Parts: sequence; structure tokens; C-alpha cells
Amino acid sequence: MKAPVKNAGRASNVKNRRGTAGKPPSKKAMEPLKAAAKRPETTAQSVEHAAKEPESAPAGRVERMTFTPQMIRARVGKVCVAIIGSTPAEMAEKALEAVRENTFIEFRLDYLPNPLAALPKLKQFLSERGEVTAIATCRRAAAGGKFKGTIAAELEILAKAADAGFHLVDLELQTAESVKRTPVEKLRSHGASLIISYHDFETTKDLDAIFERIRPFEPEFIKVVSTAKHLADNVTMMRFLERTRDMANVVGIVMGEQGIISRVLGIRAGSVFTFAAATLGEETGPGQIASRTLHETYRIDQIDAATKVYGVAGNPIRHSLSPLMMNAAFRRETVNGVFLALQAARLTDLLTLVKEVPISGLAVTMPLKAEILKHLERTDPLSEKVGACNTVVRSQDGKLYGFNTDVAAVVRPLERRLPLKGARVLVMGAGGAARAAVFGLKDKGAEVFVMNRTPETGQKLARQAKAKNFKREQLAKTSFDVIINATPAGMSGVKTHSLLESKELNTRLVFDLVYNPQETPLIRMAREKGISVITGVEMFVHQGARQFEIWTGKPAPEEDMLRVVVHALRQQAGTGAVSAS
Ligand code: ATR
Repeated sequence: MKAPVKNAGRASNVKNRRGTAGKPPSKKAMEPLKAAAKRPETTAQSVEHAAKEPESAPAGRVERMTFTPQMIRARVGKVCVAIIGSTPAEMAEKALEAVRENTFIEFRLDYLPNPLAALPKLKQFLSERGEVTAIATCRRAAAGGKFKGTIAAELEILAKAADAGFHLVDLELQTAESVKRTPVEKLRSHGASLIISYHDFETTKDLDAIFERIRPFEPEFIKVVSTAKHLADNVTMMRFLERTRDMANVVGIVMGEQGIISRVLGIRAGSVFTFAAATLGEETGPGQIASRTLHETYRIDQIDAATKVYGVAGNPIRHSLSPLMMNAAFRRETVNGVFLALQAARLTDLLTLVKEVPISGLAVTMPLKAEILKHLERTDPLSEKVGACNTVVRSQDGKLYGFNTDVAAVVRPLERRLPLKGARVLVMGAGGAARAAVFGLKDKGAEVFVMNRTPETGQKLARQAKAKNFKREQLAKTSFDVIINATPAGMSGVKTHSLLESKELNTRLVFDLVYNPQETPLIRMAREKGISVITGVEMFVHQGARQFEIWTGKPAPEEDMLRVVVHALRQQAGTGAVSAS
């Protein structure tokens, strides 16, 4: 058998630790970590060598390799998939599934009723899967986990997990601080590398102070997790990562719906890795993204310093299909860009993010389309006329320019089907979407009628656009070339299913701007009467395609965009997901 790769690095680290117990670490003490952070490539061979070692172990005995800080730094991937389960067998099965795509795994032992009993099964798994790098975590309830046992029990589980072949163990800062250094040192003697983690489930603050509290323990990894109350909290985390990346191996994440930016861009800012859920619905932290989505939609492995960041901003935004559609377009056209959903409760918060990340382009949706106008350096004449902007470009010098692609997205699908000059078009609604339709169609010479639930708003729009106001009572005896629904009626999750009855559909064509579901009650009714239809998907893809072109200067891969949206809508059908943009 080859000499074990048991490490001189680890031994000298321990010496340093003892010498500095209780004090902030000396510069020298941090050197192994810094070296690890800077020279992963030089250690890759030794890691490979180490990973092969168990194969030469005598039959029946599981050889546990220990890694130097440099080696473990080189061995971990960019994404660690968190595995949960209620039985050891279920966990092992899920891990087996996960390692097909990602060999860096965290086992959340605290999700098991009896974590200790699971270790033989997980030991077997790890001995059979030499390619896996595994973290054992048994987070106590007091620190946001599910483990109800004592600190001593947690330490025992982690020590035994290290003996079972786990490469890293995660200890929360509160535990480490309550037991002080000796038990932590004892835990390390079991051969696994140490992650000391801190979770703030309320806010994002005092990140440097937390870092300084963790540092004296000299773990191989410092993990700081906070919660986003604002989009700008991502900026706070990323600046923290940039400040500390050369001082230690840091992992930084902001939880929550508004923290998605940190989950996708954190690695670029200096986070050694990030966490992902094994599948949708198995998140171990709020806002966690599924591993496949992180790899395939956000292409996390390809994000680098040159990657341009784009996003769709609105409230609510969770169910938006724009990220899926735009990231697919970026991938198809090999654009070095990533597109994120930005849950923006306040415009000022969004504007901070745009300036600081910086964000190169924004798709703007409800309720920000009108409000954003006053923050733009210039807008195209259409946005001004309509009083709404759905597309923002940030120039190199930080100035914001606005465009409206909603107008073209209503007009072009219609133009493809009928001449608009003189066409009689009824627009239902008087909000942002309706305004885009009314102004766009008037511009093309159509005869436009506006019908709205609140008559005054409808009248005002008709007056502004030189269109005609229209009352529902007139419907039965009036015929149109096109009827457009520009209200949310028919959208999944909205109570009103259709504003019209079948007998009121005196038209050649129906265009429903609602795209989720694809077949709205209005579309179904029209089809049943043999009337031609245009679904909201066409408008959605069209407005996105024009945005893509404005941002990238390349023709949009519209067919691919349509394909991913239709596929996602089919998958979502029946789940009640709602989307505005
Ligand atoms: P958007 O910017 O997406 O068009 P909006 O500005 O909220 O959204 O506008 C929604 C439009 O749909 C409005 O014209 C609204 O009518 P009111 O002016 O009376 O509010 C209309 N709308 C919304 N829900 C409706 C419903 N259940 N029945 C009829 N009209 C509805």
C-alpha cells in the first residue's frame, strides 16, 4: 500500500492553531488557507492521487483519506448539493441520483430521526463512490436546523461522520463558541476538514464581525449565510466576499427570494462554492435553487468576470418564465450573460442593484413599468407615448435608457395575420398592456375601441390615443376584426375567467395577452366558435425576443425561446403558477 497522504499541512496547521488559541490568527496562520485559495490547480494531481488511494486498500477495509487544506479546496466543486431524507436508505438513494450530475454533496444528517444509525449506510456509500466529496451537517434546531439533540450529541455525530469517511464536517459558530477550542480540535483529529458556519435568518448585517468570530477557529472553510430583505443585500454579501476571498476560503450566500443573485453570482465574487437543492421542493434553505437549474439555466460553471448580468424586475416575480426563456436564448446564441428574477418591492432598491452589480439590462414588469420612467436618462418615443417602459439598457457610463417592446409584441403578431390599416379592433382593459396595444394599433392606422371595467379610465385612454370609448351593451350588435384581452382575466390564479360570453365574440380574430395558461377560457371559447386565435405566449416571446436584440445586438433565437416557454407552461399546467412577465 502507498504511504498515506496524511498531511504535513494539517500537522503544521494544528501547531499554529495551538500557538494562537483564543487570539486572532496571525498572518502566518492564515497562509495555508490563502495558498489553498490561490493555487487550486497545483494540487489537482495530488487530489486525484488521493482519491484513487482507497482502491489499493485491502479488501473489506475502507481506507479513509485525509486531505490537506489545499487538497480539499481543490477537490470541492462549485456547487454542493444538499441531500435530505427521512431514512438513511432514502438519503443514499437521493445522493446516488445527485452524483450523476454533481459529485459534491452535503448530507443533512439533522433531517434523520437517528443520524448516528445512518452512518454505516453512508460510510458504505462513500467507500463505493470515491469520486464524491461529502459534507456532514447535523444542524441543531437552535441554529435553524432540525436536530433536537444536545451540542455533545452533535459533536459526537460529526466525529463519527468523519470516521465514516466524510471529507468535511459543518459546525455552526454558536456550537463552536459554546464548547470553545478543545472539543473543536478534538473533532478535527478525526480527519475531516472543518466548515464553521453562521446563519442569520433575519437580515444581512455585520458580515465582517461574523467572519472575525469564526476566524480564530481556523476552519478550512468559513460559511456566512444571511437573509435578504432587499435586493441590495446581495451587494453587501458580494462586497464582503470580495474583501475576504484572499484571507480565507469563504462561502457566502444570501437566503430568501431576493437572494438569488448571491446564489448565482456569489462564486464570481469569491465564494468558494454555493449550495443547491437536489430537486425543486427539496430546498434546505429559503431561496435555494435546484442543482439542475443552477447548472443548466444559469450555467453557473461558465459565469466569469466578463459575464453580463440581466434580469426581470417586478413584484411578484417568482413565477416569471423570463429567466428560463432569456437564459435559453443566451445559451443558444453563446452570449456570455446570465438573466435573473429580481423581486423588487421598491424601485430605489432595484436601482441600487443595477448600479452596484452592475446590471446591463432590465426587463421591467408590473408594477414598475410606469414608475421607472422618471429614472431613465432617455426613452424611445413609444415608451413616452404609452407612459410605460418594459426594457432598460444600462450604458457603460451607468446611464439608463428605456424602450418599449410590448407595443411591437402586440402589433407584429397581428400584422402577420391581417392588414391593420382600417381594421376594427376592440381592446379590453386600460392598464399598461392595454395602453401598449391601443397606441401601437392607432399608430398603424387601425380603428381602435377601448372597453374597460372602470369606464373613466377607459375613456381617458380613448381620449389620449384618439381611440373610441366602447360599452359592453354595444357588443351584441357590433362586429370587429380583432378582440384583444389586455386584462388579467383568464390568468391562472385570477378569479375572473373571461370578460365575454361566447355570443359576444363577433370577431374574426381573438388575441389574449394572458399567457399562463396557454389556453385561456377566452381562447377556448373562440376556438369552439371557429374563430382564429393568438395566444399570449406569442406576445410574451415576441417582447422578450426584441429585448434580447436590444441588449445583445444579435437576432433572437425566437423559435428556441418559444419552445422552452411552451414546454414550461405544459409542465406547470395544473400547478396554479401565475406569471406577469
Ligand atoms: P397591466 O399593466 O398588465 O395591463 P394593470 O395596469 O393592472 O395591468 O391593468 C389591468 C387592467 O385590467 C385594468 O384596465 C383593469 O381594469 P380597471 O381599470 O377597472 O382596474 C383590468 N382588470 C383587472 N382585473 C379585471 C377584472 N377582474 N375584470 C375586468 N377588468 C379587469
